[in-house]
Amino acid sequence: MFRSLALVLGLFLYVQAAKDWKGQWFPNAPQELVSEAGGVTQDLSNALANEADEPKESGRVAMGIENPDCDDAKHGLEIDFDPYNVTHSTVYMCLEPKADYKGDYNMDAIITEYNVPSAYVANHKCMNNSIEYAERIPSYGTHRPLWPRYGEYRYVPPQRWLHNSEHGAVIALYHPCANKQQVELLKQIVKKCLYRHVITPSQLPSKDRPFALVTWHAILEFSVLERTIVESFIEKYALKGPEQTHRDGQYDHMLLEAAEVVSTIDDSILCPKKQRD
Ligand SMILES: *[C@@H]1O[C@H](CO)[C@@H](O)[C@H](O)[C@H]1NC(C)=O
Ligand SMILES: *[C@@H]1O[C@H](CO)[C@@H](O)[C@H](O)[C@H]1NC(C)=O
Repeated sequence: MFRSLALVLGLFLYVQAAKDWKGQWFPNAPQELVSEAGGVTQDLSNALANEADEPKESGRVAMGIENPDCDDAKHGLEIDFDPYNVTHSTVYMCLEPKADYKGDYNMDAIITEYNVPSAYVANHKCMNNSIEYAERIPSYGTHRPLWPRYGEYRYVPPQRWLHNSEHGAVIALYHPCANKQQVELLKQIVKKCLYRHVITPSQLPSKDRPFALVTWHAILEFSVLERTIVESFIEKYALKGPEQTHRDGQYDHMLLEAAEVVSTIDDSILCPKKQRD
């Protein structure tokens, strides 16, 4: 009880100032759009010429449409992760001493929040292009057009799950060397909090904090599982992505357990069975 309270109080929040935004704008930073008058005219005329009611994703590869020339969630996967190549399986194996990842009760949980500008639109890249991230754990940025179905995976790469976070999901990452009991408990907590979740092992979490929850623009990293910290983070940061939709994904390689609806398909109540203090 005391330990839990101390952890909550000790929770360290790091907020990146908006002026420090280092992400890439797509297609242009707002000020560039203003200064490039031609670009603005071009965008407007495109929009006017487009008779469909659907907002046109100008210059952006459409999401959620299987296109063998770009991304069909079946071909060219090896650029991120090849589910059929045993060499790639090392990404979800523990290859280091487990003791290095056992966690430490004295290590505070950390929330890193990025001020993603509201005008920022993340790019979609086809499978003929690699995607790398500036941050160790990405919480915004370029991703694949097709996103994973919600649920627990043996492994799913960041280039895929980042798209779910843009739709409001919570991504639960655990290092493959992390404590097994805590991993199981984390899975149960997340599955009971919301439908829109993706759970996968990942080499991205650190030795100090082998667990991470990712939403669009925020990351919680922790050393030892504390239910209240996980639930508080989900309640505050889930369903915040710029493209809210519960529509399920198309990618399902290594899906172990499809997500189940917890409250409603739109996750109207987060963590309904939350532990009351
Ligand atoms: C990748 O494929 C897309 C869709 O076919 C194409 O538009 C793009 O030019 C290709 N890019 C490269 C670098 O080959
Ligand atoms: C498996 O992946 C490795 C590493 O990316 C690669 O060198 C190798 O050619 C792949 N094997 C097959 C059969 O695709």
